[in-house]
Amino acid sequence: MLRLKHVTDPRWADLVEKDLEEVLTDHAYCEQKAASTAISLIVKFPEFPELVQEMSALAQEEMEHFSRVHEIIMKRGFKLGQERKDEYVNELLGFLKKGNSKAGQLVEKLLFAAMIEARSCERFRVLSEHIEDSELALFYKELMASEAGHHTMFLKLARKFGIPAGIDVDARWNEFLEFEAGMIENYEQRARIHG
Ligand SMILES: [Fe+2]
Ligand SMILES: [Fe+2]
Repeated sequence: MLRLKHVTDPRWADLVEKDLEEVLTDHAYCEQKAASTAISLIVKFPEFPELVQEMSALAQEEMEHFSRVHEIIMKRGFKLGQERKDEYVNELLGFLKKGNSKAGQLVEKLLFAAMIEARSCERFRVLSEHIEDSELALFYKELMASEAGHHTMFLKLARKFGIPAGIDVDARWNEFLEFEAGMIENYEQRARIHG
């Protein structure tokens, strides 16, 4: 369903399991950034009521995820550290086309979000299948399903707003998949959600 062109090496899960405090801090901020992105889409594109409704619900769900990751951090006696620099997200941001029409800008941002949700979902699947910590394996299995739903919603919205504006959304989505597959191999050497 995700159509990702590169599959994460399961050995990445070993790195994660060796440094849970680091990955949980990184994960918490991934959830916060997902909520922030949803809010920024509302602020930039208030003229699309369906988008505003979906992003409003999403921001709340992502903050709920943040809160649950934070509870795990506290329960295990860890500390939420400072936000980690997310080089994966920054590199992907550089792929977005600039100077587009309003609909074009929206489609770029929706596909960008769909991409991050897809990779998060895949990474959560790897964790759910390969880490030995049973509480976390179950937690990641649940989040995997949730992020898969977000991925599908972002793609659906990109098609809904892009196709009437004459944008070949699926061709652009393929470009995202190709680009991401080329860069993600460099991002599985550390205890971070996106590497
Ligand atoms: Fe989430
Ligand atoms: Fe999400």
